[in-house]
Amino acid sequence: MITIIGSGKVGGDAALFSALKKLDDEILLLDVVKGLPQGEAMDLNHMLSEQGIDVNIRGSNDYSDMRGSKVVVIVAGSGRKPGMTRMDLLKINAGIIKDVVENIKKYASDSIIVPVTNPLDPIVHIAYKTSGFDRNRIIGMGNMLDLSRFIQFIHEATGHSRDSIRALVIGEHGESMLPLTRFSTVSGIPLSNILSNEKLDQLVQDTRQVAAKVIELKGATVHAPGNAISVIVEAILKDRKKVIPIATPLDGEYGQANVSIGVPAVIGRKGVEKIIELDLNQQEKEWFNKGIESVKNALAGI
Ligand code: 2OP
Repeated sequence: MITIIGSGKVGGDAALFSALKKLDDEILLLDVVKGLPQGEAMDLNHMLSEQGIDVNIRGSNDYSDMRGSKVVVIVAGSGRKPGMTRMDLLKINAGIIKDVVENIKKYASDSIIVPVTNPLDPIVHIAYKTSGFDRNRIIGMGNMLDLSRFIQFIHEATGHSRDSIRALVIGEHGESMLPLTRFSTVSGIPLSNILSNEKLDQLVQDTRQVAAKVIELKGATVHAPGNAISVIVEAILKDRKKVIPIATPLDGEYGQANVSIGVPAVIGRKGVEKIIELDLNQQEKEWFNKGIESVKNALAGI
């Protein structure tokens, strides 16, 4: 069973993509709001019926229903409103996450937790500390979403198929995220062979800023995060050994410890099966460390 805690638009979309990909027979939508997860589950099941897909989606307000979950996704919490940074949300969401994670400990103590709530990196660390789980069982979804956007910008700039683009974004899921042009290619051809340095800098800027733009235009980001969650859940449940950027607690990697942030990792049935350490250049290190500092400051402030 996959449990998704938080049945708003992103939680609903995560259930939708996970069901269409048949990632498990059963998906549980949990929420404190009475009726919301039940209604969302009904709506999704009606869609799945016509599609002939035998994945059963259930809605509940009772945490004990998550017993037996292999993966628990946390989307619960307040969302980012126009003009807000992800950090503005920390104070509101830290308390919610602690409560949610206590319930995961109680009812799904063998699960892998996928935090999505913002500010993502500090929330991952709070989930890690509160759960007491081994760190490989905490997989934050932040850079996977940033990566979807980076790929779109590379596609727009080159005109090449999205399917040919292999790219990477690491670091804070926030103001100092690090889209790595140096580690991104179109079918193995370095981006620097295709685009000017000026254009590459522009892609990096655009990737950093585009979530705020979507939020300004439509009030929230929904489909890209919903899909990115399903990519991580798929990598876990299908034991894909997929190399993707996720947020996880560091213990010496990149010269950092006692902090969680986005890094490339191998994701499979055991969760984070290996963290991949890249040889970053000076400028990349500066951005990465800026993110570390931001997350550490946020954690110190609560
Ligand atoms: C996003 O990047 C708001 O963090 C959320 O879409």
